[in-house]
Amino acid sequence: MSSLFDALEKHVSVRSYKSDPIPQEVLDQILNAATRASSSGNMQSYSIIVTTDTELKQKLYEPHFKQDMVLDAPAVVTFCADFHRMRRWLKLRNAADNFDNFMSFMIASIDAILASQNAALAAEGLGLGICYMGTTLASCGEIAKILECPEGVVPVVGFSLGYPNEKPELRDRLPLKALVHNNTYQKRTDAEIIAEYSQREIKGWERYMSQPHLKAAVEKNGIENLAQVYTQLKYTKASHEEYSNTVMACLKEQGFLA
Ligand SMILES: Cc1cc2nc3c(=O)[nH]c(=O)nc-3n(C[C@H](O)[C@H](O)[C@H](O)COP(=O)(O)O)c2cc1C
Repeated sequence: MSSLFDALEKHVSVRSYKSDPIPQEVLDQILNAATRASSSGNMQSYSIIVTTDTELKQKLYEPHFKQDMVLDAPAVVTFCADFHRMRRWLKLRNAADNFDNFMSFMIASIDAILASQNAALAAEGLGLGICYMGTTLASCGEIAKILECPEGVVPVVGFSLGYPNEKPELRDRLPLKALVHNNTYQKRTDAEIIAEYSQREIKGWERYMSQPHLKAAVEKNGIENLAQVYTQLKYTKASHEEYSNTVMACLKEQGFLA
């Protein structure tokens, strides 16, 4: 039990990796752990694509917004919402296909994400490191093409995987009282919100200011606080609208939306 809590409490995202390959038996242990996650109706409506091929990783580099870990990590693991396999089986067994809709995409996404977090913890428990890449969803259409995903398959979450070449500091978390509600949702007062974010504002700001390119961007854009970093630098309205359109288009292309 303590090793589980060790893994949970020591989690940090790793973005720099040794070139050592991942032995197949280690990878299999990680992937088996992924499949032990709960899934809706035990349908396991996901697929896991492990990309170790250098040329393919080079193709993934651009849609992953040129994040170096895509090239440096020995593996990029992409978890896809997948009703392709299940729908094929239904057809072969003369059963109705009810899974060509948005609800099915959500179910399959949840299955994929639960499997991914099992895999992440298993990897960390075995001494490997991971870093999730939100670019998997932001570029899901392009990544689906590179990974040759058929209809019914949408990449939703992915991470770099390998042996760490860095030991990042543990990052802060919001206090439990900011995240947990007893019995029903208790809406916070403005003062409570400010209090709950007080440590984040200090730690997050220090972190961004310690990175020269971010410090320069903050100064150039007249950004005054961490909240503005989030919405003026990292997650702009324009980018989020663009990624929303990408995801919607991919859901249509892959048969989850009319
Ligand atoms: C869905 C998701 C997408 C993420 N995307 C990226 C990413 O594209 N690049 C990156 O460097 N980190 C990414 N991260 C990692 C987060 O930045 C990281 O988990 C967070 O800052 C907390 O740090 P920690 O994981 O070290 O505790 C992502 C994490 C999640 C859960």
